[in-house]
Amino acid sequence: MQDRTLTAEVTPGDEITVAGWVHEIRDLGGIAFLILRDRSGKIQIKFEKDEMNDEIVQTGLDVPRESVISITGVADDEPRAPTDVEIVPTAIEVLINTPKIVATGTEGGTELFPITYFGEEAFMNQSPQLFKQLMIGSGLERVFEIGPIFRAEEHNTPRHLNEATSIDFESAFINHAEAMDACEYVVTAAYQGVAENCITELETLGLRDGFSVPDESFPRISYQEAIERINATGELDEQLVWGDDLPTDGERALGADVGSHYFITDWPSEIKPFYIKDHDDDKTLSTGFDMMHPQMELVSGGQREHRYEHLVSGFEQQGLDPEQFDYYTKMFRYGMPPHAGWGLGGERLVMTMLGLENIREAVLFPRDRQRLSP
Ligand code: AMO
Repeated sequence: MQDRTLTAEVTPGDEITVAGWVHEIRDLGGIAFLILRDRSGKIQIKFEKDEMNDEIVQTGLDVPRESVISITGVADDEPRAPTDVEIVPTAIEVLINTPKIVATGTEGGTELFPITYFGEEAFMNQSPQLFKQLMIGSGLERVFEIGPIFRAEEHNTPRHLNEATSIDFESAFINHAEAMDACEYVVTAAYQGVAENCITELETLGLRDGFSVPDESFPRISYQEAIERINATGELDEQLVWGDDLPTDGERALGADVGSHYFITDWPSEIKPFYIKDHDDDKTLSTGFDMMHPQMELVSGGQREHRYEHLVSGFEQQGLDPEQFDYYTKMFRYGMPPHAGWGLGGERLVMTMLGLENIREAVLFPRDRQRLSP
């Protein structure tokens, strides 16, 4: 546990534990500094690489900025440090995740796994959605989480798991279009990272020649255009109409037509969840978007409804009881920054990137309708 705030007085030579956000990392070669921040200020953590355990150096210097970490180490006087004190770490722990046992669902009531929680009804979390938004409200401008999600999916398909990994992003002061930019950037960077760092693995999988990093920006197609283009392919027995969700064969037909990753934007408000904001000039259209690989959906996201009254009336319109979500809506009463974000399915990203036939090949111990052990 954290002993103190970062700016509390310490005596040189004390062993202390501090926790906060990674504000900055300055790597000068043989020596590097990590500046850790909490509500009280900043403190300097010193890494003298040759004199320290490699694992501590690697963990400390590889964490992305704004990660939440806890550091134990010995304090020393250092007049050049922000608080005249620096810490030489002996242990580092990367913290952060949202709870996986929760009181309410977010992505549709039918896909919840109920559990008994000391006699009360509880569920395995479907998405960190509401929690990442609460963290934005607490003053963290950007929130990232890679963690498990649980969905009691009825479907037994090659692209659904009952326990999956969600790569979540949420940011204050951005709109849905900027969230799409971030999504495109992250997915392209993931491909680049694999192309540069996993040459041996790609060779082992026989994918070295076929592996290509997306080199153009992802087209943004409105939902209206998407259903028109799907209908025009003639692949579906019945024509899609406004308000229909896109069936799997429709997604495939459109993916083949587009031929690259792409976004579907401006979905009908009625088929997007309560936390997605509608367009100000047309309430029937939402700012929600999906990011698609030609074969399947990889991401859902959107700008969030940050205005309390609109949020509560959105619950009512979707037949949900706002009182059940009081722990979430309460924060909005005091004012929330405008914010947007998305969730990316980790296994679907790996599956589509490597051309795997079945999502189960992207997981060590898949959880599906038939498999609960090992
Ligand atoms: P959504 O429910 O669309 O959105 O989920 C986001 C992404 O997670 C992946 N995914 C799955 N992968 C495998 N098996 C499943 N059963 C499964 N369910 C979902 C998909 C999907 O695109 N809260 C929103 C995100 C947001 O708006 O930030 C959400 O969870 O790749």
